[in-house]
Amino acid sequence: MATTSQPQHPSRLWRDLSLFDGLTTQPGRCWVKVEDGRIAAMGAMDSLDQAQRADCIDMGSGGVMTPGLIDCHTHLVYGGQRSDEFELRLEGASYEDISRRGGGILGTVQATRDADEAALFTTAATRLGAMIDDGVTSVEIKSGYGLSTDDELKMLRVARRLGRELPVRVSTTLLAAHALPPEYHGNADGYIDLVCNEILPAAHAEGLVDAVDVFCERIAFSREQCLRVFEAARALGLPVKAHAEQLSLSGGASLVAEHHGLSADHIEYLDDAGIAAMAEAGTVGVLLPGAFYTLRETQQPPIDAMRRAGVAMAVASDANPGTSPIMLPTLMLNMACTLLRLTPQEALAGMTAHAATAIGTAGLGRITVGAIADLCVWDVQRPAELAYAVQPGRLRHRVLEGVLTHG
Ligand code: NIG
Ligand code: FE
Repeated sequence: MATTSQPQHPSRLWRDLSLFDGLTTQPGRCWVKVEDGRIAAMGAMDSLDQAQRADCIDMGSGGVMTPGLIDCHTHLVYGGQRSDEFELRLEGASYEDISRRGGGILGTVQATRDADEAALFTTAATRLGAMIDDGVTSVEIKSGYGLSTDDELKMLRVARRLGRELPVRVSTTLLAAHALPPEYHGNADGYIDLVCNEILPAAHAEGLVDAVDVFCERIAFSREQCLRVFEAARALGLPVKAHAEQLSLSGGASLVAEHHGLSADHIEYLDDAGIAAMAEAGTVGVLLPGAFYTLRETQQPPIDAMRRAGVAMAVASDANPGTSPIMLPTLMLNMACTLLRLTPQEALAGMTAHAATAIGTAGLGRITVGAIADLCVWDVQRPAELAYAVQPGRLRHRVLEGVLTHG
């Protein structure tokens, strides 16, 4: 006797779509079959036969399908806001000036220490909700505004809870080496001891860390101090990444590459040696046009040289209260083109396939047979339109592991 059991994710057929597969735009109109949370089959429209349609729920047609957007660099969990600092910068103060006077990141550290987990969750969920509505299906979230064991773990617990309670994948990054907390003033090496010997092991033991980040910069930590953090991370088997060459050439990018790190991020001041090291190690260059824009940076990241060297380039929001208070990922596609001169296709690959590499997750960020079915269908005619126009509200459907979560 035949039994009928309802599959957890029934087959769905998406058809008559323009398709950006994570790396390139497919010619003509396409169909994609989703089954059990994965891409089961796909092809050009003229290859779709009745048999292939028969067992599927037809999801309708038209528009552009892309992999779900992956924002591979955010600081979404934080207390307070920094519009006062925005006003100071409008009056002529630089980000570095403000930081040296004890503002900047340390202002957010105080507000984050003062907030409890419930309050941090509520404000971060609102910000993340806006990003989900703009097509994000995976997001990386960093700590780095706690700078003590309890407060760093608090931030990471909130990040994990966001991943459990919102329809989005969250990967967590410990960024305890983000700034020197006031209680360690004049003792940066002592703080790095705390990061390596206490904060990192405690966060790892609680399962809160997917990767480890550092801020390698003259207003943050030296190459040698970052090296110590990387060695501690590698000893625990954790991948590394860095905020590198954002305000000056500090050598953080080549340090990440030497540790086969996931990514070097910002990289406005990246030099040829750093590019060569990243190309050899397969380290992704993460471009953060929101921070470039907010700080009115004039030093362009070396896009052409990275292209020539074959360094994969990701694009991310850097969503944070200081340098990029911008929670609109599709705006980053536009800024990556307008400000940094990526092509729309490069920008889209930067928030899909290459962003997946930057968070170390295979099987995401592509529309290929076997890939995880995290997908967006947009009310636009061509993939390039997503980068060309700045227009929220174009997301028609959003699919997380085969399950419709929007539209
Ligand atoms: O990615 N550069 C360092 N960290 C963040 C900014 C954090 C802040 O200003 O609050 C960034 O730009
Ligand atoms: Fe950042």
